[in-house]
Order: sequence, then structure tokens, then C-alpha cells
Amino acid sequence: MQFSILRIFLVGSLTAFAVGQDDLGLSGGYTNLQSTDLKGTIVKSSGTLASLSSSKTGYNFLPTDLLPDLAHNGAHHLGDVTFRYRISNNGPWTSVDSASSRKAVTQLTNLRPGVLAAADLAPTLGPSKIPHPFTVTREWLSSGGGLALRFNFTNTGTSSVEFGSLGLPIAINNIFTDRLATDTQAKCSFADPYIGLDAGFVRVTPLSGTGNGLVIAPLESSHFEAWRFLDEPSGSFGYQGQTYEGNYEWQVHSLAYAQNEWKSTTPWNTATSKTLAAGESYSVGVKFVLAQSIQTIEDAVVKSGTPLAVGIPGYIVPSDLTARLYLNYTSAVKAIEAPDFTVTGPSTTSAGVLYSLTPKGSVWGRSRVTITYANNKKQTVHYHISKTTSSALSDMGNFFTTKAYFNKASDPFQRAPSIMTYDNEAGSIVEQDGRVWIAGISDEGGTGAYLATAMKEFVQPTAKELSLFDDFIHDTVVGTLQRNGGFGVVASAFFYQPNAAQYSYNPAIDWTSWTSWDQARAYTTRRAYNYVHPVAAYWSMYRVARNYPEQKLRADWSWYLNRAYNTTQYCLSNRAANCDYGLVGLMGEWVMGELLEDLKREGLTSQVTSLETTMRYRANQWETEAIPFGSEMAWDSTGQEGVYYWTNYFKLPISPTKAINSIFGYMPTVPHWGWNGNARRYWDFNYGAKIAQTERQLHHYGSGLNSLPMLSYYEQHPTDLYALRVGFAGNMAPLSNIHKDGFASAAFHSFPDLLKWDPYSGDYGPGFLGLSLGQCVYILSNTKYGDLAFGGNLLSQSGASTISVEPKDAVKRRVFVADLGLKVEISAGIISKVDFDKAASTVTLTLAPAATTGDLQAKSAIVWMKQPGATTLGYAVSGASKVRSGWSVDLSTGKATVKIGKA
Ligand SMILES: *[C@@H]1O[C@H](CO)[C@@H](O)[C@H](O)[C@H]1NC(C)=O
Ligand SMILES: *[C@@H]1O[C@H](CO)[C@@H](O)[C@H](O)[C@H]1NC(C)=O
Ligand SMILES: *[C@@H]1O[C@H](CO)[C@@H](O)[C@H](O)[C@H]1NC(C)=O
Repeated sequence: MQFSILRIFLVGSLTAFAVGQDDLGLSGGYTNLQSTDLKGTIVKSSGTLASLSSSKTGYNFLPTDLLPDLAHNGAHHLGDVTFRYRISNNGPWTSVDSASSRKAVTQLTNLRPGVLAAADLAPTLGPSKIPHPFTVTREWLSSGGGLALRFNFTNTGTSSVEFGSLGLPIAINNIFTDRLATDTQAKCSFADPYIGLDAGFVRVTPLSGTGNGLVIAPLESSHFEAWRFLDEPSGSFGYQGQTYEGNYEWQVHSLAYAQNEWKSTTPWNTATSKTLAAGESYSVGVKFVLAQSIQTIEDAVVKSGTPLAVGIPGYIVPSDLTARLYLNYTSAVKAIEAPDFTVTGPSTTSAGVLYSLTPKGSVWGRSRVTITYANNKKQTVHYHISKTTSSALSDMGNFFTTKAYFNKASDPFQRAPSIMTYDNEAGSIVEQDGRVWIAGISDEGGTGAYLATAMKEFVQPTAKELSLFDDFIHDTVVGTLQRNGGFGVVASAFFYQPNAAQYSYNPAIDWTSWTSWDQARAYTTRRAYNYVHPVAAYWSMYRVARNYPEQKLRADWSWYLNRAYNTTQYCLSNRAANCDYGLVGLMGEWVMGELLEDLKREGLTSQVTSLETTMRYRANQWETEAIPFGSEMAWDSTGQEGVYYWTNYFKLPISPTKAINSIFGYMPTVPHWGWNGNARRYWDFNYGAKIAQTERQLHHYGSGLNSLPMLSYYEQHPTDLYALRVGFAGNMAPLSNIHKDGFASAAFHSFPDLLKWDPYSGDYGPGFLGLSLGQCVYILSNTKYGDLAFGGNLLSQSGASTISVEPKDAVKRRVFVADLGLKVEISAGIISKVDFDKAASTVTLTLAPAATTGDLQAKSAIVWMKQPGATTLGYAVSGASKVRSGWSVDLSTGKATVKIGKA
């Protein structure tokens, strides 16, 4: 569907409330709030925020235009509050929500200086209408150049009261429903949390990726403990749907949830409650601080008086990598608690206090670092420790080619041999699912395991895995997925049609949904997205066949290359005549760019011309569109990768920047491994996961895929450290999905009752494709941070004349030297060390034949180079002969040194 109007079908009951009902009291008018940087209005009756705009640009972060349809009970607004309390120590919790049954609040008068509006909330603290043994007041304040919101809880009874939860709903304009795509782009914003206690904040970023951003930071002691999704009625806009993700709340306390709804999981932070003695008062709240731009959100965090942490390269740390953590705060660090890391430091740098963190021995998984400042504020930084990248990849390749290898020759759907979706909770292959593609080795949802394996063989080929994968290509991709000698790709090899297959369909599965396709529907070949997976598999095998010629495969390299080429062209050539969605950006189509480069290197000029014609048509079309990021979904974060690749390739002036801005809008950087570089996605659990629901996904494939354009943009703008941090975070993300046993999950469930990886491999594949095409060691010298390496360990001291780096990234074949704007890539083997001599402008690479002894050992490699920000290449490898547009290096002795200098 090319989207113009974002229309979704509303489901759910409309009986609980009446749409358009004015429980909020809009008819009673508004009160203005004004500060230097922000201006707002509150609804007089409810005292909740109706608009919040930049005083500078007028940009409004709230859905003010839709307010009449958000005025019903149960719909939350900024200024609402929810809590659970009890009077005795062990009694049941009473739940209160200021939005559940609204009544006009009682205005307070005689306001103190700086207080813009204040109210006693007693009338609206439902649903229980009993008088509570405490008062709750709310004040809107001016604060710095911005605004603030404060709640005072005062125990007015004679017994102590325990607050087991206390939440501040954060509702911004993330409602796309019924809007034109251009309006969505102009009006809507995203919110992303950093659940970091006293240093926590929410980033609000315009969907366009340009203009002012907003930081919501703690006021006083309101630490950010948990982030809870708020249940609301479906309403006019399909709350918790594809075009309206819904609202969350900032929880200052969360114990009452942790003990109940969330008791089967481990929360991000230790859950707390707050007890107020008789007569005691407690203030909580948040500040609203305008950020000049998305890129300067961290400056606004510092301006708000909140501690800032910056991790380099990020918060997903392989066990052999030393990560850096820079802390910027006015109060000194009193203690740093990092049980899973060896910590060195602090040292004082111009970017803050620097600590180095190296994972200890065999720790794996989530790991929290807690910093206590001299003023007793506490900050948590959330890490994920993985195995070394090479071991993680070895584990994954092994897992998918053993446990997920499907070998039933009698399968009526001819799926054997193949690598299928795996359920790591059940410990078995998903041979049936009501969403047929998941068991049908097509769609993203059914290809995760095989696509990840394909790309793993490109990165770290092993003989046994290659042989199994080669059988899958020749016996199943050809024949079952691509039927009757053609290049079409079926939507699913598995289908539900009892009269067409001798198969025991599991009666416990619901086969009545639209997702249980019959054979005819399953064998349709029009979904363009489905072509990327076989193309990637062929391309990867081409690379192995070409670069490890000693390894016998069932065909020679040209066969794999031609299959990749013909499969792409079948779908996308001739204005994508054979496909639907062929004229929007496809998940993972970056690999088609790699394919084109290889066709050029092989001198296959007529194929190059034809493929360029195909892609030029698409790129030219995107260049004419206001919002070129169409998709099957009404709003999506998938088209940007392809749009960027081809419009950048053809050097079109508008769309590359538009795509990058769009990604800046939905891909944050925060000190939490799950949200850092996490491209916003929240509906694909429905299509590719075991726990199927609309829920924010952490490190679904958007992270890996959107990182590709961001890193490419960085390579053309090597002083933009922010872009590198965001891009590298997303590119590293698919490493976190790989479990200790090698299983890789579709994504992590972020709702606090789950906080776990989905048990299905599902649609993991495109994310890993992003990792495998993007991983690179980035070497740079930054004015604030000094010498930095992303993706490797710095062996040299900052400021040394030669920067030396040991690559620890997951591919170990690419290096980017920012000072030279130079990107180097090798075709086989690995780079084990990089030395960049700043004064001489030379780069010396030490190469080895493989990452591990179990992998194929390269006998030779080609060195390819480019300068993405320049028109010509000014560097060459000394003493090497040219081959396939690169320089040939002999690795037969087990190592080689490559010297790169000015041409
Ligand atoms: C709320 O508490 C703060 C102290 O934390 C106090 O300054 C303020 O006046 C109180 N506001 C109201 C309305 O009581
Ligand atoms: C802390 O952050 C602010 C705002 O980004 C910046 O101006 C300042 O230089 C930083 N201080 C240190 C020590 O990094
Ligand atoms: C695939 O493409 C190549 C050109 O790369 C062409 O020569 C070949 O005939 C095609 N193969 C088939 C089976 O159509």
C-alpha cells in the first residue's frame, strides 16, 4: 500500500466510553503557560497539558489538533498521575489514575512566584471515590528557560501511607491515524526513554528529524525507575495500533507492579516504594527543556541539571572489548558499582570523567552499572555483554545449522533441507504456525534463521555449515521457494489447505485467521520484500565461492552471482512489473547494492547497466516524492535504507538527507543497550514472533538496517560524531539478540511484565544482514574525546603519532579512517591490527586468514578502498597487483601486511 492517508481499522469495544465525550472539560477553556523557550496551554477543568510548543519555532509536541477525540475518560495527558497505595504494610494496593473518571480539579489561588497554575487533584483521583488519606496537588512551573510539572503528596491521615507505584504519563503527538503522510511528517513526534534513575530522561523528537527536540528530565528527586505502557480505550485513533503506538508513563516508583504483574521478570532498576509518615510531604515531577536540535539533546540534558553519561562505542560490549564511559555532571562521582566489569579510571578529559569498562571473564547478558554522585543522586547505565563477536557468530552458525536444520525428506511442503524458524522455549523447529510464512521459509518472519546463517557464512564461513547451506540453496530455494525453474519467490512454502497436503495440521492452532493462507495464496510471488532473502543467500555464497576457491561448492561462483542478479531483476526491473511494493525501499536491499558492486568488479557490464536502470527508476521516483518512505505499513521505519542507498548512489540531491533526517527522528542514543540505536518498531511481534502483540520492540531488525545509511552518512561527514554513535549502536545491536547457546531471537520484549527475548528466531535475519554489511572499525580523533576507536580496542595512547587498533567488531574486514575519509575493506580473512600514522597519512593492516581456526582459512584477499566523501580515490596499496577493482594480497603463509598510502 502506497500510503497517503494513514487509515487503520478500529477494533475493540466502543461501549466503555463515547468518542467525542468531553470528560476532560475542553468546553471550559484553556490557561496559557509561558516560559522563554516553551509555551503551553492547559485545559482549565482537568489542568492537563493541551499544547506544548517551542517558543522559537512554534512546533507543537502534543496532539492538540486531535484533542476533542482524546477527551474521554481513560485517555492520558501530560499532567496526569497514576499511583498505587496502601495503608497497612501488607495490604492490597489501591490503584488510582487521574484520567480514569475525570472531574474538574480544584484550582488553587495565591500562587507563589514561578507557579503558573496549581490545583488540588482530589476530585479526579478515581476510580474509587473514597476520600484518600492524603492530598495531591499539581503545579505548573516556569523552570530555567522551560516549564516544569510538580506533584505534592501530603499524608493528611494519622497512619503512614506507602506508595507502591507513582507514574507520570508522557503523552506526546505520536498519533498518525487518519493523517496525510505529509501532516504526520510535519506534526508528529516520538518519545524514547532513558530509564536511568536520577539521570533518566525522555527524548521527544520530531518525526521529520529536524527542528527543536524536547527533553523531559527529573525534577527534584523524581528518579526514573520504570517505563510502563498505559492501557487506554481504543478510541478514535486505534490506540496501541500500527498508526498509534500509545502512551507510557515515567514511573518514579514501581514496587507494586514488580511484585504483581511483573513478578516473573527482572526490572531494569530495583523496584522501590515510598512511605509517607503522617503529616509528611513528598514532591515529584519533571522539567521540560527545549533542545536546539535532536543532535544537541544531550546539551539540553546537561542544561537541565541532570547527570549525562556517554558510552563509546555504546552499551553492547563483547567480552574482549574495553568500553568507555564519559560522565558529565556538576557533582563528583562518589562510587561506581559495576559488578560485571573491571573498571579503570577515572581520568579527567575534556568530555567529562572517563571510566574504562572491560567485561569480567564469563559474564553474559544484561548488566547494570550504578553511579552514585557526591550529592547522592544515583544513575544507572544499562549494558549488554556478549561473547566475543567471533564466538557469538560461531555459536549462531552452529545453532542454526544443527538445531534449526530441517531434514524431513517426506515433508509435503518440500521444505527439506532448510534452516527454519526455531522456538527456543519449546526447543524445536516451528513446523507449523497459523501465520503460515513463519513456518514457510519466506517473508521476514520465516527467513530469520536462514538469512542470518547466509550472512554468517559470508562473514565467517565454515566448511560444514557451507555444505548444508549449499544443499538448502540448490534443493529448496531452487524448486520450493523459486518454483518451476523461475525466479519468482513464493510468499510461503507452508500453507493451510487440508485437501492439498497430506499433513497433520495441529488442531490446537487457530487456522481461521487471514494469516492461514491456502496453497494458491502461499504460492503467490508478488511480495517484493521476499526477494531480498534469496538474493542475500546467493550473494553470500557467491562471495564465499569467489574468495575461498579451494572450498568445493555445488556450483561455481558465477552461478550464485547470476541467481542473485536474476532474482533481483525478475522482481524489480521494468518498474517492478512482477512485484508489489517493488517501488518502495525494501528491508535489506543494501545487499543489492553490494551485488551491483560485485557485478562491476567482475566486469559484467550489461548486467551492471540493467541493474542500474532498474534502480535508477526507483531512485528517480523517490526523489519526486514528498515522503518517499512507503511500505506495507501505514507508517514505517524500513524504506529509508533503500531510499538512501539508491538516491545516494545516483547522487540525487534531496532524498539522501531526507532519509537520514527521518532516521535521526526515530533512532535515539541513550545510555541503555536496548534503546541505544533502536529504530522505532512496535507491530512486528504480530507477524514474526511467538508472543504476538503490539509492543515496542528492542533491537528488531530496524536497528541493524537503519544503521547502514547512518554509517554511510557518517563516512561522508566524518566530523559528525553523533551520527556515528547512533549508527554504530544500531549496527552492533543484532549481536545482543544472539544467546549464549547461539540461538538468535527476533527482538526483545520491552513491556515491563516481559523484559525478555522472544522465543522465536522469527524475523531476526535482516538485522543480522545489517550487522554483517555494516560492521567496521571506525578510527577518529575528536576535539573533545581525543582518539577513539569504534569496533576495536585502542592500543595506543590518545594523541600518539600512530593510532593502533585491534579490531573486535563482528566482521573484522572493514576499517574507516576519519582523518583520511578512507574506507578499506578486504574480501576474505580478517584484519587483526590497524596502524594509522597520522603524519605520514599511511594505514598499515595486519591480515590473518580467519577469525577462528574452525573457519575457512583464506589463501588470499583483495583490498578494496573508497573515499566516500571524495570524488576520486587518492590512496593505493604499495607493491600489490590490481585485481577485481582492488589490490591482491597473498595470505598463503598465514599472514600478511598491507601498506596503504597516498597514490
Ligand atoms: C510543593 O512542595 C514544594 C516543596 O517540595 C513547595 O515548595 C511547594 O510550595 C508545594 N506546593 C504546594 C502547592 O503545596
Ligand atoms: C558537559 O556538557 C555540556 C553540554 O553539552 C558541555 O558544554 C560541557 O563542555 C561538558 N563538560 C564536560 C566536562 O564534558
Ligand atoms: C541469469 O542471468 C544471466 C546474466 O547474468 C543470464 O546470462 C542467464 O541466462 C540468466 N539465467 C537464467 C536461468 O535465466
